[in-house]
Amino acid sequence: MNLLEVERLNRSFGGQPALHDISFTVPKGQRLGIIGRSGAGKSTLLRCLSGLDRPQSGRILLEGEDMAILPEAKLVLLRRRIGLVFQHFNLLNSRTIAANVALPLQIAGMPKAERSKRVMELLDLVGLADHAGKYPAMLSGGQKQRIGIARALAAHPALLLCDEATSALDPETTQTILALLADINRVLGLTVVFITHEMDVVRSLAQQVLVLEKGRIVSRGKPADILDANQLAAVLPPNLSQTPQDGSHAIVRLTVATQAVFTPLLHTLEQQCQASFALLHTLPNPEREELVDVVVQTDGLSVATMNALQAHACAAEVIGYVPAHS
Ligand SMILES: Nc1ncnc2c1ncn2[C@@H]1O[C@H](COP(=O)(O)OP(=O)(O)OP(=O)(O)O)[C@@H](O)[C@H]1O
Ligand SMILES: [Mg+2]
Repeated sequence: MNLLEVERLNRSFGGQPALHDISFTVPKGQRLGIIGRSGAGKSTLLRCLSGLDRPQSGRILLEGEDMAILPEAKLVLLRRRIGLVFQHFNLLNSRTIAANVALPLQIAGMPKAERSKRVMELLDLVGLADHAGKYPAMLSGGQKQRIGIARALAAHPALLLCDEATSALDPETTQTILALLADINRVLGLTVVFITHEMDVVRSLAQQVLVLEKGRIVSRGKPADILDANQLAAVLPPNLSQTPQDGSHAIVRLTVATQAVFTPLLHTLEQQCQASFALLHTLPNPEREELVDVVVQTDGLSVATMNALQAHACAAEVIGYVPAHS
C-alpha cells in the first residue's frame, strides 16, 4: 500500500520551472532518499510534500487525500500526519527541551498530563530523557537534532520528512542520527522521506532513491544501483558496447574482499585462465565497506574464465565489450 503518491507535480517561480512533472510513489514503511545538487529542487519538493507550498499542477496524495487541492482548514489537519525534521533543528531557545517537544501537542490541544507522559516517552525514544529540563543552547548539534526528531514524532505522524537533517553535523554524529532514523523506521514502521546532497547519507539510510536534476527525476532505484551506475560510468571506456564483436575484449567487474587487492589476484587469474587481464579501476563497493569492485579488461572471456573469476571473487559480472585495440 502506498502512503504517498505524487503525480505529475509542477512548481515554478516567476515562470521558471523548479519542479517538472515529478511522479513517484512511497510504499508505507519505506525509507526514500531524494538526492540532488544545489538548486535541483529538493527543498521545493519537500515543501510541497509537507503541505507548506502548493504546486501549480499535479497531485500529492497522502493516505488518499490530495494535498495539492485540499482546502486550507483540512490541510492543517492532514499536516498533523507529517513530521518535519530540519537542517538547523528550529528549536525555540527560550523553551526547555521538554517544552519544545510538547509544542505540537499543545497546539493540537492535548491535555497537560497526557502531554507530559508523551514527551517523556519521546525523550526516552531518542535517548535524552535526562535532558528534559535543559535548554537547547546546552545541547550539542547531534542532541539538538534528536530533540528535533522527538518533536517531529510527537503527534504520531504517518510520514517523516527530513530536509538535510544531518548536513549541519560532523560525520560521526551524522551516522548516529541516521541510525536513529533507521531505528524509528523499523520500530514504528514509519515512512521516511529525506532529502540530501550527500551520497553517504543515501547509502546509509535509503531503501529507494530518486535523483533530482534541474527539477526533473533523472534516475531512480536502489542506492547500490544508482551510485554504482554513476561511479562506474565515470571510469568505463567511452566506446563500451553491450554485444561482443569478433575478437573484442570484455570488461568485467569483480567484487572482492579489500585485502585481495593487495595479493597478485590478476596474476593468479591469468595463470588459471590463460588469458590476459588489465586492471582498469578499483572502486569502493557501494554496499559493503569491506569489499571493492575491480574493473578489468580481458581478451579471454569464456565460460571457464567466468567460472575461475567467480571462484576468486564474491561476484563477477560482464559490463560490456570494447574493440581489441582499445
Ligand atoms: N521562493 C522561491 N522563489 C523563487 N525561486 C525559488 C524559490 N524557491 C526555490 N526557487 C528556485 O527553485 C529552484 C530549486 O530550489 P530549491 O531550493 O528547491 O533547491 P535545492 O535542491 O533545495 O537546493 P539546495 O541544495 O541549495 O538547498 C532554484 O532555481 C531556486 O532558485
Ligand atoms: Mg534545499
